[in-house]
Amino acid sequence: MTDPKQDRVLIFDTTLRDGEQSPGATMTHAEKLEIAQLLDEMGVDVIEAGFPIASEGDFAAVSEIARQAKTAQICGLARAQFGDIDRCWEAVKHAVNPRIHTFIGTSPLHRAIPNLDMDQMAERIHETVSHARNLCENIQWSPMDATRTEPDYLCRTVEIAIKAGATTINIPDTVGYTAPRESADLIRMLLERVPGADEIIFATHCHNDLGMATANSLAAVEAGARQIECTINGLGERAGNTALEEVVMALKVRNDIMPFQTRVDSTKLMNISRRVAAVSGFAVQFNKAIVGKNAFAHESGIHQDGMLKNAETFEIMRPEDVGLTETNIVMGKHSGRAALRSKLENLGYELGDNQLKDVFVRFKELADRKKEVYDEDLVALMRTASDPE
Ligand code: KIV
Ligand code: ZN
Repeated sequence: MTDPKQDRVLIFDTTLRDGEQSPGATMTHAEKLEIAQLLDEMGVDVIEAGFPIASEGDFAAVSEIARQAKTAQICGLARAQFGDIDRCWEAVKHAVNPRIHTFIGTSPLHRAIPNLDMDQMAERIHETVSHARNLCENIQWSPMDATRTEPDYLCRTVEIAIKAGATTINIPDTVGYTAPRESADLIRMLLERVPGADEIIFATHCHNDLGMATANSLAAVEAGARQIECTINGLGERAGNTALEEVVMALKVRNDIMPFQTRVDSTKLMNISRRVAAVSGFAVQFNKAIVGKNAFAHESGIHQDGMLKNAETFEIMRPEDVGLTETNIVMGKHSGRAALRSKLENLGYELGDNQLKDVFVRFKELADRKKEVYDEDLVALMRTASDPE
């Protein structure tokens, strides 16, 4: 299944689980249902809807999302404990295609927490994955902190999980420590060394502590991973997870060098980004790739002039491709005459050259005093403009 020639990449969204784990990002039951519906409609393959053992509320939300989803697989998270796994199954079993995702920390630091030695942990993995597989056919297993786990031990645990019935093996970069080349090498190593690796799907799950989550996810895909775990707006613990909108658009825009397809309808990205920002209370930074307020905005004269002549001069994506109606030409002190003329024309003013010269001088004076000159400001300027020649 992980034939590198196969070009379909599954998008696994964990906004409602890893994203919601961001301190302060808790969503209500109704908000979680709304976001899950938008994800399903957008074409996400797997929705990780929550951590059913965490609370009664999370259990109820995962159960209802499982009942409501039309096409997406619905997944719940469970620690490597029978009680967690049973509770998770109770919540997801209503879905058309349910998935149990169970995990344990395999790195030396994480092994120390439950105080298990390597053999004891190997046994726990075998027992818990087998238990999950007896309940559900669709099992994802994650060695948490995989990128800081000894490679030999990582291969050993992945092999155990596959033999016990895992159908997806997720390789988390839990603390955002890896770098693109290393991320690719890790997937390649697992594909080469682990018996049965070609029978399952490898997933990549990156955190953004060093700002490399998107690059690391794409590098893993190029090496053979076929599922990307991500969140809307990159929401997630600390510096967040890989941003869904970034990997989807990167695979679309640079399909020439990364020939992989997703099922996601990118024209729905802006709407879901805004809804997630609203319900999580985490505003999107202005210069955020793809969905930031400035991602399709231009203020400088040179850029505005280029954009007015040919949008491809300064934009590699069309605003319509992410669900916007148009590029935003922002009028400020860096704007030039061509943009001012075009803005005024859109507002219904046809200007001769002398009149434009006059308005332009007064526009620049105003722009020096204000960060942004709005349409209303331009209308006010026009009220006192000299008569057309
Ligand atoms: O970052 C991580 O390791 C996780 C696991 C639970 C998959 O979110
Ligand atoms: Zn995570």
